[in-house]
Amino acid sequence: MLIHVLGAGAGGGFPQWNCNCDNCAGLRDGTLHATARTQSSIAISGNGVDWVLFNASPDIRTQLMAFPAMQPARARRDTAICAVVLMDSQIDHTTGLLMLRENGAPLDLYCTDMVKQDLSSGFPLFEVLKHYCGVEWHAVPYDGEQAFEIPQAPGLRFTAVPLRSEAPPYSPRRHNAQPGDNIGMQVEDLAKGTRLFYAPGLGGVDEHLLSFLRAADCLLVDGTFWSEDEMIRREVGTKPASTMGHLAQSGEGGMLSVLNSLETPRKILIHINNTNPILDERSIERATLDAAGIEVAFDGLEIDL
Ligand code: MLT
Ligand code: MN
Ligand code: ZN
Repeated sequence: MLIHVLGAGAGGGFPQWNCNCDNCAGLRDGTLHATARTQSSIAISGNGVDWVLFNASPDIRTQLMAFPAMQPARARRDTAICAVVLMDSQIDHTTGLLMLRENGAPLDLYCTDMVKQDLSSGFPLFEVLKHYCGVEWHAVPYDGEQAFEIPQAPGLRFTAVPLRSEAPPYSPRRHNAQPGDNIGMQVEDLAKGTRLFYAPGLGGVDEHLLSFLRAADCLLVDGTFWSEDEMIRREVGTKPASTMGHLAQSGEGGMLSVLNSLETPRKILIHINNTNPILDERSIERATLDAAGIEVAFDGLEIDL
C-alpha cells in the first residue's frame, strides 16, 4: 500500500493564523529550523490509482493540489478520492467535506454512528451536504474485531479500534466520550500482508490497543503535544493535553515510553500541534526522537508499505 501524508499538523496547522508562540513566530521570521504543516489528513491506496482519504481537513484544497495523483483527469470532472474515512468528528478532520461538495456522486463516507450523530447535529455536515453532492454513509464497526473492506479500494482491509480520547468541544459528549467518538484504524495490504496502524488522536494506551500497535509494520500515531502542560507553558491556552484527548510524548507512560517498548520498524508521530518543540529540527526534544528512531511526519511524506 501507498500512504501519502497530506497534512501532518494538528488543528490550526503550523503556523497557526493567529499564533505567535515561539514556533509559529520563529517559522514566520525564518529563525526556526522547521517546515510548515497543514492540518491532519492522509491518503492510502492499494493500487496507486484509487485513494481512500482519511479525514477531510480544512486545508484539503491545498493538499490535493500538492499531490498530483489526486487528479487523474480521466473525465471532465474527476478525482482519485474513492472514499472518505473519518477518525472522529473534530473540525480539523471534517470541515474539508464541505470543499468536496462538487463531487459528481454522493460521497462514500465511512465513520462511526457517534461521529455521524455529531455531524448531523452540533456540526450538521450531513444535513448541509444533502443540498450538494450528498453523502452515502457506511457505518464503521469499532469493536476492534470486525474488519471491513471498501469495494472501490481494492487490496485493502480495515479494522477500527475504539480509542480513549475526547469528543469535540461542540459535542454533547465532550469530557464524556463514548466508544466510537474516536477510532484508530488498522489498514492491511492483503497482497503483501503489511499493516499500518493510524491514530492521529489518542489519549491512552490499553492492552487491546497495544495488541494493534504490536501487530503493525508502521505506526502513524498522535504527536500532538510533547508535554501535558504545553499549551500553558507556551502561554497560548489553559487546557492540559489529556483534557483534549491527547497523550503527551514525554513523562511517565507517555507516547515515547509506549513507542520505546515496541519493535515496530517505523514509528511516526503525526497530528503535530504548532506548539510542539519537536517541530524545531534543532531542539533537544527532536534529538531525543531521532535517537529513539521515531520519525516526525511532514506534509508530502510517502510511505510504501
Ligand atoms: C484536537 O485534535 O484536539 C482538535 O482538533 C483541536 C481543535 O479543535 O482544533
Ligand atoms: Mn485535531
Ligand atoms: Zn503557535
